[in-house]
Amino acid sequence: MRRPLVMGNWKMNGRLESARALLAAVAAGAKGLASVEIVVCPPYPFLSLGAPQGIGLGAQNVAAQAEGAYTGEVSAAMLKDMACQFVIVGHSERRTLFGETNTAVAEKFAQVQAQGMIPVLCVGETADERDRGLTEKVIEEQIKAVVTAVGPAAFNRAVIAYEPVWAIGTGRAAAPADAQAVHHFIRSTVARTAAGAAASLRILYGGSVKAQNAPELFAQADIDGGLIGGAALNAQEFIGICRAADTKASKGS
Ligand code: 13P
Repeated sequence: MRRPLVMGNWKMNGRLESARALLAAVAAGAKGLASVEIVVCPPYPFLSLGAPQGIGLGAQNVAAQAEGAYTGEVSAAMLKDMACQFVIVGHSERRTLFGETNTAVAEKFAQVQAQGMIPVLCVGETADERDRGLTEKVIEEQIKAVVTAVGPAAFNRAVIAYEPVWAIGTGRAAAPADAQAVHHFIRSTVARTAAGAAASLRILYGGSVKAQNAPELFAQADIDGGLIGGAALNAQEFIGICRAADTKASKGS
């Protein structure tokens, strides 16, 4: 049984005081949700606030290099020092706005694991790729790049987030059955390339998840939680999503 995981990706939002307030509100709302694992990913400068008791801490990005003359970059070792347990790699905003390639993403993935943290590999197709029937091909390439760089054990300690690019920040989430089909494909792909990891691998869905649509998404067999953007900035909405995942776990589905 995979423990559901809900992660809040705050992206580049908020200020010091609002970050503090959001952490406190999430902590208060999370009380009593014992079955779901909850993680917040604030912007780098606010990682030093730490995560409240019972909430995990993650970062949104990391350097592909270990250390050195890379102005403006943040190493995996630094994130480890700030008590991060998770690091998102290959978010579509990094890939499309900052030109990160599959190879660079795989290097970041390896850096995170080398520090004993858990990489959260984002995969997903654009609207154009979906229209052209390329969804599976694109995702397979994104996964294979990591297996090539890290080896067949890559996904033994990792999370994958399926985030269709067309669903991010659009208010148009994937239909639960469509998302399930892609999650199943991801699990099968990992099973082909990395054997043992597939059954226990947590695969999150991301893209316009709200408290209202979370129960139906999380009810799908291969959806093990969510990577939440906009709704993670509102504690009540985020906790509503966490509650939906908690309910799935406590039902043992
Ligand atoms: P939204 O939840 O705002 O669609 O963003 C999803 C996302 O990109 C999480 O990483």
